[in-house]
Amino acid sequence: MKSTIVLLGPPGSGKGTQGEKLCSEFGYVKLSTGDMLREAVKNQTELGKKAKTYMDAGALVPNDLIIGLMKEKMAAANGKVILDGFPRTLEQADALAEQMDVDIALNLDVADEELIKRITMRRSCPSCNAVYHLVHNPPKKDGVCDKCGSELYQRDDDTEATVLNRLRTYREKTMPLVGYYYAKKKLVTIDGVGSIDEIYEKVKKAIQ
Ligand code: AP5
Repeated sequence: MKSTIVLLGPPGSGKGTQGEKLCSEFGYVKLSTGDMLREAVKNQTELGKKAKTYMDAGALVPNDLIIGLMKEKMAAANGKVILDGFPRTLEQADALAEQMDVDIALNLDVADEELIKRITMRRSCPSCNAVYHLVHNPPKKDGVCDKCGSELYQRDDDTEATVLNRLRTYREKTMPLVGYYYAKKKLVTIDGVGSIDEIYEKVKKAIQ
């Protein structure tokens, strides 16, 4: 089984959902830059204050801040790691390559219209970062996290206008990583449309 997995794919393609399932079943540690940044925003740290403007606009947080944030985490990581939302630029990919070998980059492929529906109907847990979808993966009790009982919320960047910017940013800055990992023979693209469990079966097959 692969030990270092990069989850690539546009916003809403299911990186967090599939990453969480792999962690529960196989004991991976998931490093999600999005979750780390939202935590920093919530705690109003220096990083959080700087990052918020970019996140709310659907832009990327500058490379130096992200690489600084991830360097320590990557150095501490040993064993099975899932990188969710990192790298997102070629500069970040080079910084990652200096610290660890990537075994596989899983690229979840989903069309824009579906991504917009998924993101605008997402609800997230502020405490344990679990994600739900109002139709495809609803919580058992309305508005309450199944895992920890916290009240669910809608992310500030999950509005339709911001999602369109995030998709543009993805195409411009992150899509070149598909070619980057293809050239390194690490890329596996998975059709990300179907039920969460159907996609998970494909993901598991790919990482064997
Ligand atoms: P981040 O939190 O990483 O957001 P993202 O990449 O835009 O991805 P999402 O979290 O929106 O989606 P996902 O692919 O995880 O999908 P999910 O599983 O939740 O980043 C947020 C911001 O932080 C960025 O915009 C940027 O500003 C900044 N940032 C983060 N990392 C950075 C970096 N490295 N460099 C610079 N800036 C950075 O699923 C989505 C929804 O769909 C859920 O409701 C889910 O239940 C549902 N769903 C999942 N799978 C399915 C399915 N198969 N069928 C139907 N519904 C499904």
